Amino acid sequence: MSAVIESSNIKIREITEPAEMRPVEDLQREVWGVPDLDVVPVTHLVATKEAGGVLIGAYDGENLVGFVYGFPAFEHGQMAHHSHMLAVKPEYRNFDLGRRLKLAQREHVIAQGIGLMTWTFDPLQSLNAYFNFCKLGVVSDRYLPNFYGEDAASFLHQTGTDRLWISWFVNSDRVKNRISNAAAALDAGSTTPLVEVTNDGSPRRNDLSASLAYDRTSIEIPGDINSLYEESAQKAFSWREDTRWAFTEALNAGYVISGFMRGRRDSQMLGSYLLSKAELLSFR
Ligand SMILES: CC(C)(COP(=O)(O)OP(=O)(O)OC[C@H]1O[C@@H](n2cnc3c(N)ncnc32)[C@H](O)[C@@H]1OP(=O)(O)O)[C@@H](O)C(=O)NCCC(=O)NCCS
Repeated sequence: MSAVIESSNIKIREITEPAEMRPVEDLQREVWGVPDLDVVPVTHLVATKEAGGVLIGAYDGENLVGFVYGFPAFEHGQMAHHSHMLAVKPEYRNFDLGRRLKLAQREHVIAQGIGLMTWTFDPLQSLNAYFNFCKLGVVSDRYLPNFYGEDAASFLHQTGTDRLWISWFVNSDRVKNRISNAAAALDAGSTTPLVEVTNDGSPRRNDLSASLAYDRTSIEIPGDINSLYEESAQKAFSWREDTRWAFTEALNAGYVISGFMRGRRDSQMLGSYLLSKAELLSFR
């Protein structure tokens, strides 16, 4: 592998043969650090692929350096596609491969006549929030506390397995604009965030009725929850508790999570989710 990765030399293509799926098992171990029992095995990949699933790899020569995997699903009374895993090898990250894999998956799903893709992610991970909301244009109206149970097998998730269930309306103008790199005009305006980042990196809850007084509100998260966890596990758990409260209250009050911004306050990097009063299906 060269020191500088030329993204255009990396080929994105379907993974079809069982023998080609073994490296998919290996990459799951490498990226999430999961034990063998938590690895989606070749037999399962073969079966779901035959039943309409999508498995696409990113290849540097013969070597698998990333993949995306999902299967047919049912959502809002219609066929959908649930994307279960997206992974890029650490040394190949930030070269647009994650985005290219999602775009290839989108093309495949559109060709199947499907207009909605769903997946989940940990809302405290600012990288994933930025990737999903800003680069792809997803929306979300569901917060799932400890979705995969209380104990996370993966080393990426140390504070339980809370997830946002997100919707990617693959044919919507919003998504088409976002994936063609149109800058999203986002502005938190003068919202009172339900939770905000304080000077020492801890969360602070604001008054619920003040935060939910208008059609728009926001929820802040730290710029890097993984480093924060290393510094203070207690702080990281407070973030989980407070953001779980904030998302749950806002979604129950009829807001939808429709955007994300990265920013800085004094010396702190932070992220901010933007929520607006709307029906999820109005984003179709
Ligand atoms: C999520 C993942 C697949 C992205 O892959 P990738 O090839 O790096 O993705 P891309 O290069 O297309 O996009 C990454 C973006 O995140 C940004 N980013 C990187 N670190 C970030 C951080 N700490 N906070 C916010 N954004 C960050 C990059 O700048 C880039 O955006 P840009 O192109 O506008 O500059 C990869 O990080 C990964 O495998 N993570 C571990 C597994 C995982 O979380 N999978 C679930 C994904 S929902």
